[in-house]
Amino acid sequence: MWVTEVDVPNFEEVYRLEKPPGFVALHRCRRAPAFGGTRIRAYASWDEALHDALRLAEAMTRKYAINGLPFGGGKAVLIQQELGDRATALRTLADFVESLGGRFITGSDLGVTESDVHLMATRTAYIECRDGAEATSESVFQAIRAALDFCRGSDSLRNRTVAIQGVGAVGSRLARKCVEAGARVLVADTDADRVATLAATLPVSDRATGEILRVRADVLAPCAVGGVIRSDETDTLRCEILCGGANNILDRDDTADLLEARGIVYVPDFLANSGAAVEGAWTQLAGAGDYSPQIAAVGTRVRQILEDARRAHVSPLAAALRTVAVTVPPVSSAHRDA
Ligand code: NAI
Repeated sequence: MWVTEVDVPNFEEVYRLEKPPGFVALHRCRRAPAFGGTRIRAYASWDEALHDALRLAEAMTRKYAINGLPFGGGKAVLIQQELGDRATALRTLADFVESLGGRFITGSDLGVTESDVHLMATRTAYIECRDGAEATSESVFQAIRAALDFCRGSDSLRNRTVAIQGVGAVGSRLARKCVEAGARVLVADTDADRVATLAATLPVSDRATGEILRVRADVLAPCAVGGVIRSDETDTLRCEILCGGANNILDRDDTADLLEARGIVYVPDFLANSGAAVEGAWTQLAGAGDYSPQIAAVGTRVRQILEDARRAHVSPLAAALRTVAVTVPPVSSAHRDA
């Protein structure tokens, strides 16, 4: 494996790997370990892969900071089309994670299966084999309830419409929770089999993938990939609340201001989808256990952020980032204190 350290402002450590091809980005790892999954995805370029790694690592830092948990954020991304032999790639990445001596603890993310993670665990102790999809879908569900309560004065989903983009591990679980709570659920997925499997056991209504972001719904929940809410398309949205499981739902942070101007309540994704991060952090801190109260507390935090935002006349993202900024010192002072 060839590894080059890349200097990226505001990031503590970033590595470019040639074999396997990709990046390990550690936004904050020096005061406390950086936590974050490994993603394998097709990228159009190395720059696009780096950009994804950086945004995802920073989002992880935000997740821990907003929940008051003592961890930093990191991410590994591998470029799928240049991966070569998958098992060799995963073992080599695991060896690199091991060589970081615990500054980075990884796990699964998009494109990485349970068996991939178990394979990596044969080479490094710094990996979590837990599947976070249940905890993630639960925190998104609690976030939706909190946002409904804030907007409508009731957290009930009865007769509310929830549109879900992507019904993989997180989206399918969220769909089930919403249906069980009485919601009408619309779904779309680029993989038609996933929709068919879900629709066989749950009364969900199928929509075209190009349509789901524009349907009229109380809640729009992107649970597929990031960057789907674009600054030049916010006027096509017809939801009241935007709250999903995908990381980095907005193409850029300032898209949140456009949503705010349109009266759409955007629940910051790094808070809504932090259930798995919360569960993982508590497992590290206190051992295996039932952390459902801590995951449910994400709903309380959402309510607090929405109220802070209303009081300060800013978007919920701006309010959440103020909270995070208090908790996460900039990289220069972190280095000084190290
Ligand atoms: P997954 O791979 O199981 O599901 C993603 C689904 O989205 C797949 O069914 C895929 O076919 C579909 N999809 C992809 N592009 C699409 C598009 N343009 N339109 C409609 N459907 C599309 O992944 P998973 O685990 O459910 O994660 C979903 C999102 O949640 C990802 O962004 C991930 O980073 C994020 N996330 C997942 C966590 C977890 O614990 N699994 C934790 C926090 C965030």
